[in-house]
Amino acid sequence: MKRTLICLVLLCAAPARAADLPGTQIERGRQWFLHSSKGTACATCHALEGNGTAVGPDLTRLASVIGPRGLVMTIQMTVTAYVQDVELRNGRHFPGIQKQKVGDVLEIYDLSKTPAVLLSVKAADVASMKANTKWTHPPASAGYTDAELADIIAYLKFVSTGVDKEVAVGDLR
Ligand code: HEC
Repeated sequence: MKRTLICLVLLCAAPARAADLPGTQIERGRQWFLHSSKGTACATCHALEGNGTAVGPDLTRLASVIGPRGLVMTIQMTVTAYVQDVELRNGRHFPGIQKQKVGDVLEIYDLSKTPAVLLSVKAADVASMKANTKWTHPPASAGYTDAELADIIAYLKFVSTGVDKEVAVGDLR
């Protein structure tokens, strides 16, 4: 009896998943996120609901605090905050995003490759890491329509906040 109760409580507490909402805007957004036919799919560089690769930042942090307008601006951003222009002592140059530092080894995703490749580089082998000026966020130029962006944002909001709310094209600009 006690065990049944605990299971029931766990079931109720388990967040709904977008895949459980077929035919909705949220599920359409999930499909764009995972399998976009426009440029590179978001999941190539972001992880949500256990799918995708966390090259870029965790999207739930931002999507839980800012609204559709802010999200569209960020998705189509031209200025980046984390990506850096990495130059190695051997002369190699690439746009990279540092994941972590383990001892004196830096783990950096090389964004010049699709999908990005995780490199382990000795700190001493890095000549410089400067603010990025060349790499651009792929969805900025992928040609998503506002309706598609609204779907993607509905999905991001749902995963981040659990709120199942329609995002209208008019909410974006
Ligand atoms: C090629 C890899 C790549 C793809 C594809 C990609 N992103 Fe990103 N994304 C990044 C990186 C790297 C950053 C960090 C940029 C920076 O330096 O500010 C980022 C940042 C973001 C941010 C801002 C997060 C924050 O906390 O500042 C959002 C929102 C976002 N991406 C959404 C998306 C969505 C939605 C898609 C698909 C339509 C997508 N991204 C596709 C790599 C990617």
